[in-house]
Amino acid sequence: MAFVIVALDGPTGVGKSTLARQLAERNQLLYVNTGSMFRCLAWKWNRLDKPENEGALQELGEQTQIVLEADGRVFCDGEEISAAIRTEEVSALASQVSRFVPIRQALKFQQRQLVEQAKIGGVYRGAVLEGRDIGTVVLPQADCKFFVEASPETRARRRFAELQAKDPSVRFEEILEALKQRDEQDRNRSEAPLRKAADAILVDTSNLNVEQVLSVLEQHLQPFLLTESS
Ligand code: DC
Repeated sequence: MAFVIVALDGPTGVGKSTLARQLAERNQLLYVNTGSMFRCLAWKWNRLDKPENEGALQELGEQTQIVLEADGRVFCDGEEISAAIRTEEVSALASQVSRFVPIRQALKFQQRQLVEQAKIGGVYRGAVLEGRDIGTVVLPQADCKFFVEASPETRARRRFAELQAKDPSVRFEEILEALKQRDEQDRNRSEAPLRKAADAILVDTSNLNVEQVLSVLEQHLQPFLLTESS
């Protein structure tokens, strides 16, 4: 039976997680938030006092047990860190650790493994992986590749609304500045920088709501799901 692989890449704060989760739920796909994997390693890296030597990074990448539950909870070596990895501090740390080659190699291997396991598991009709380099590096053979975009201001406004609900003292300018900095780091790093794969479909979400974006994604996905069930 065919297994549909969807790559959903794009910059920080564009709403990839909401889109990928709903796309997965509606179409019986495995959902993998690869950003959570980087955040998990960033959180542990910080605890280890941020080593930068290759051996330590390799060990961190290869010896850390990351579990992504279907309900969104994240576990690092058995410890639940779902809330701890969503802070602005860990966002910045994740952008830093994602520059390291041994970290990227280890996660690329694990991400491919998750897809392979889902393929043979018989539960899912496919998998959707959200990240920065899924269509370009991790799964260049993906059936359906999307690159979602929105202006920095639109993304910062969304992030601001989310954070303000938890902490009314946050400032919009700070959120926008931090987001631009992460964009800059993600786009300009030498290893697997954020960029649209040549064969990815560009979706600008600036003036669309979640349902409208999902309908665009599903229009492209539909032929693959039809082929799969015929
Ligand atoms: O999607 P996110 O904001 O949770 O990702 C956190 C960081 O991890 C982000 O700065 C970029 C990095 N990342 C990456 O380099 N490659 C991926 N496939 C996913 C995330």
